Amino acid sequence: MIRQVLRMGDPRLLRVAEPVARVPGAELDALVADMLDTMRDLDGAGLAAPQIGVGLRVVVFEVDRNPRYPLVEPVPLTILVNPQITPIGDDIVEDWEGCLSVPGLRGLVPRHDHIRYTGLAPDGSPVDRTVRGFHARVVQHECDHLDGILYPARIVDMSSFGFEPEIARLRAAP
Ligand code: NI
Repeated sequence: MIRQVLRMGDPRLLRVAEPVARVPGAELDALVADMLDTMRDLDGAGLAAPQIGVGLRVVVFEVDRNPRYPLVEPVPLTILVNPQITPIGDDIVEDWEGCLSVPGLRGLVPRHDHIRYTGLAPDGSPVDRTVRGFHARVVQHECDHLDGILYPARIVDMSSFGFEPEIARLRAAP
């Protein structure tokens, strides 16, 4: 079922989400199904449970030639329960992000370039991946939602934050 996505300003987006106690579970499966329906309906690259008003540590992401991100490598569909991120090295890279909870806007956000992330798949099997670049960025963005952090709070230079058409012109400028 497609759910309504909360927008920035809703206090539920600022809470720290709780770990999922039972994996696997029917409630978890229903939540994941709604998250995937909602993410795909809005053509998003990812979604975290708090964005549909559920304060649990579950994220989904998938990048498959997404028109919102035409230049980035695909990221396989991943459903991650109780995730943990460990940065590898000190490399920080900046790139543009958007968020379904911050519609119409884009911002330049610094993130770790190289991370390991772990967690559980909905069937309870472990997930353990080491990734770089846009894949690492998506994971960090989605997991931030579980700690009540929206990407505008990570922007260092607020001149690199704005509405999509204006930002597209900014990026096209020499
Ligand atoms: Ni987001």
